[in-house]
Amino acid sequence: MTEAVLGSLSTELIELENKYGAHNYHPLPVVLDKGEGVYVWDVEGKRYYDFLSAYSAVNQGHCHPKIISTLIEQAQKLTLTSRAFYNSTLGEYEKFVTGYFGFDKVLPMNTGAEAVETAIKICRKWAYEKKGLVENSAQIIVCEQNFHGRTTTIVSFSSDKGANKNFGPYPEGFIRIPYNDIDALAKALENPNVAGFLVEPIQGEAGVFVPDEGYLTKAHSLCKSNNVLFIADEVQTGIARTGKLLACDHESIHPDVLILGKAISGGVLPVSAVLCNDEIMEVITPGTHGSTFGGNPLANKVAMAALSVVRDEQLAENAERLGRLFRAEMQKLVDETELLVLVRGKGLLNAVVVNDTEDSSTAWELCVQLKENGLLAKPTHGNIIRFAPPLVMTEEQLMECVNIIRKTVLAFKK
Ligand SMILES: Cc1ncc(COP(=O)(O)O)c(C=O)c1O
Repeated sequence: MTEAVLGSLSTELIELENKYGAHNYHPLPVVLDKGEGVYVWDVEGKRYYDFLSAYSAVNQGHCHPKIISTLIEQAQKLTLTSRAFYNSTLGEYEKFVTGYFGFDKVLPMNTGAEAVETAIKICRKWAYEKKGLVENSAQIIVCEQNFHGRTTTIVSFSSDKGANKNFGPYPEGFIRIPYNDIDALAKALENPNVAGFLVEPIQGEAGVFVPDEGYLTKAHSLCKSNNVLFIADEVQTGIARTGKLLACDHESIHPDVLILGKAISGGVLPVSAVLCNDEIMEVITPGTHGSTFGGNPLANKVAMAALSVVRDEQLAENAERLGRLFRAEMQKLVDETELLVLVRGKGLLNAVVVNDTEDSSTAWELCVQLKENGLLAKPTHGNIIRFAPPLVMTEEQLMECVNIIRKTVLAFKK
């Protein structure tokens, strides 16, 4: 078993979390204290490359100076008004974000799961008020191995037993079909009560499953011909992560409903959003949905700064270029060692599959060893390691990381 080397302060802080916090995560044994760009430092001052980016929230790099200075400036002026009143930043942000992604309207929320819940509500209301379904009959198609968050409704349609066991009774109204299976979608769409298809353009948490080329295009057009909303959950894949602004852009499809979170604020604040056009968003009227923090002045300014950084620093282009290089280098390693089976991904959202069973600890132990060698990554499942560094990485830094991964994999002994 690979043992992590821990300083006494780290040990003390881990014990504190264990004693006073709910055990809803199983973190890698490292206690982080500082971040800058592609790097994070632990409390003992050791520096690491961050290859998780807070599950793709820190695409712009840790503590990006432009985002942080915007945060500080706005924090000294006005942070929260609630939506009981207008505020001086919301309209500006709404114009900015709708123009940026090409939709008529936005509904601002905070976390990814809240945005998914919002999209579900919009879809159902649209089904009754626009599509003409009988109230309480609407169905939303979801995929096996999906990950859309942790609320009771969302976990109810998860196929991950760890996520939903003992959290029932589960709400109705969801049909689960295999991912990347267009025939299964066509069949499910025969049900006249289907109102929406909720899909991740790449399944991130499941282990970076990239669907076949053309799947999203066909799914989008099937939805259109059946008057069903194509709802893209780009909480993890959006904001340049996969080498385009949105993963849907790889197939040039414009979803009916777009869900964003994580990197929309550069990982600085919980900011999420649902975007769609007027004929859909107009089903939302005063009193039908809301959030105390959604659309707050701090979030609005931070999100505008974070999205500007993505554009100004051409992060999508960088992710596309470095992603190709990374996969090529990982493929060489896969060819060289028995320990890795394959590499897959798009842009800088990639994963390697370890040659062991899903319930093995090999990927975990490899991540502990990577940590000792100065690179932080986390298994998504027992035998899959996701590699998702901040998109501000340079080629030189990426090659240094490739060397750390190579060295660790080739020296790894169970
Ligand atoms: C595709 C997707 N949707 C939704 C969520 C939930 O986001 P949050 O953790 O901010 O609620 C995640 C989080 O990983 C995600 O990957």
